[in-house]
Amino acid sequence: MTGSQAIAIDGPVASGKTAVGGLVAKLLGCGFLDTGLMYRAVTQVALERTIDLQDAPALTNLAESLSVGVSKARGADGLVVEGREVAESLRDGSVERGVSLVASVPGVRRALVQRQRDIAAAGQIVMMGRDIGTVVLTDAAAKVYLTASVTERARRRHLEFAERGNGIGYEQVLQELQRRDAIDSERDDSPLRPADDAVVIETDGRPIEDLAKEIVALVRER
Ligand code: CDP
Repeated sequence: MTGSQAIAIDGPVASGKTAVGGLVAKLLGCGFLDTGLMYRAVTQVALERTIDLQDAPALTNLAESLSVGVSKARGADGLVVEGREVAESLRDGSVERGVSLVASVPGVRRALVQRQRDIAAAGQIVMMGRDIGTVVLTDAAAKVYLTASVTERARRRHLEFAERGNGIGYEQVLQELQRRDAIDSERDDSPLRPADDAVVIETDGRPIEDLAKEIVALVRER
């Protein structure tokens, strides 16, 4: 198992993993990998190729055959899927709605987890996701589970959508977020939950800088 130098950050939708994890990596001077982007990239390509999101064998084939690498320029901070640097477009509507279904397919998870471990083997990394502490990097140096109340998380995601010009209403964001949380935590393969040895941090009302410093302190005391 790889990952003994890694910092694993897991948590539900909009718990702050991406922002906090990115800052932790900056403070530690290492790379980070937001594994949600991998599941989102598979979902986006499946939608482009009109693959049925219920078709587990087809999705597994896709995940196994997709080329996934890290960008030469940005290292583990930049993910390249099928030659494209994947980023913010993956946070839009149809991908957001379909991703949890795609991520519940065991074959998809197997293919992506292998790549995540390969990336972690290359050097110290902060890795964010749902199953990093429980499955992907079980021997991570530090494991953190970020969470926040459902209303706070819906407020954050609603604001993010609004900043990108998506006028989706708060109630709809809340419902969609609860639907994804349910799929992620009730699936059979690698359900979302804190690892037994994870430090659980409530993020309601706490600034990103403050959370990142707390995590860096945790890493340094291990
Ligand atoms: O940013 P947000 O919390 O909305 O989601 P994300 O971290 O980009 O992850 C998108 C989806 O991918 C999650 O809802 C999970 O269904 C799936 N995922 C997963 O199953 N395992 C991971 N390690 C990361 C993401």
